[in-house]
Amino acid sequence: MPGDWRPQELDLSVPSAARMYDYYLGGKDHFEIDRIRAQQVIENFPQVREVARANRAFLGAAVRAAAEAGVEQFIDLGAGLPTQGHVHEVARPTQPDARVVYVDLDPIACAQARALLPDDATAVVHADIRSPEVILEDPEVQRLIDFGSPVALLLISVLHFISDEEDPARIIGAFTQRMASGSFLALSVATSTAQEVDVDKLSSAYRGAGTSAGGLRPREQIESYFEGFPLLPPGLVDVHDWPTPAADPPAPAPIRLLAGVGRRP
Ligand SMILES: C[S@@+](CC[C@H](N)C(=O)[O-])C[C@H]1O[C@@H](n2cnc3c(N)ncnc32)[C@H](O)[C@@H]1O
Repeated sequence: MPGDWRPQELDLSVPSAARMYDYYLGGKDHFEIDRIRAQQVIENFPQVREVARANRAFLGAAVRAAAEAGVEQFIDLGAGLPTQGHVHEVARPTQPDARVVYVDLDPIACAQARALLPDDATAVVHADIRSPEVILEDPEVQRLIDFGSPVALLLISVLHFISDEEDPARIIGAFTQRMASGSFLALSVATSTAQEVDVDKLSSAYRGAGTSAGGLRPREQIESYFEGFPLLPPGLVDVHDWPTPAADPPAPAPIRLLAGVGRRP
C-alpha cells in the first residue's frame, strides 16, 4: 500500500540496521545515528564494507541463477533499502514477468522501497520474519506468490539477526515446506573465523536498530538450513567466492559470510 509510512515513525535518534548497511555500501540513505553505529562496527570489523559489497554481488548471482532456471517468483526476506541491483532489476532481463515480494522489519526501508516499486508485480511487506505465518497470510504474498510453481526464497545477510532461540530453521521451513520442486533457497550467513572478534561490541552497535543479535554460526549449522535443497556449485563458500573464486583473495577478516544456493529436486 504506497504511502502508508507515517513521518512520525522517523526518529532520528534511533539507528537502523538497513541504513547502517546502506552506509557500508556507500549509499546516501542514512542519518548521523546510523553513521555513528556503523563506525562502531567498522572499528571492530574493518572489512565490513568489502563483505557488504561481495554480499550484494552474491544476491545478484543467486537471483540470476534462479531466473535462468525458469523461476518467476521471488520472496526476499530482510530485503533492506532498495539499493542498486534490486531483485526485480536482476531477474527481469531473463524473466520479464518476474514477481517479487520484499519483506523487511524497518518501516523506513519499506517506505523507500515502496516508492521505487516499478509496478504491481512487485510488493513490499512490512513484517518480522520471526513471524513467518503473518508473512504467508499477507494479502500481497497471497496475490503474487503461487506456491504450486517454483519460488526463490532469499535470506541474504539477515539470519545473523535471528537468535538460535528464535530458530532460523523454523522460519526457513515455514516457507520451504510449501515450495514446489524446482524452487530455490539462497542464504548468506555470518560465520566466525580464526580471528578474534568482540561479538558483544558488534551487538551493542546494533542495539535498538530494529534487530536482535543472532550471532555467528558454524558452517555445519548453516549447511543444515539447506535441508531438502541440495547445494548448487560452488556449494556453501565464502561470499567472495560465489559463483567463482575471487581473483583477489579478500583480506583476512574476523567475520565472513558463507553463501550458498540450493535447489529442490
Ligand atoms: C544487512 S541488511 C541485508 C539487506 C539485503 N538482504 C542484502 O543482503 O543486501 C539486513 C536487513 O535485514 C532486516 N532485518 C533484520 N531483522 C529482521 C527481521 N526479524 N525481520 C525482517 N527483517 C529484518 C534489516 O532491517 C535489514 O534491512
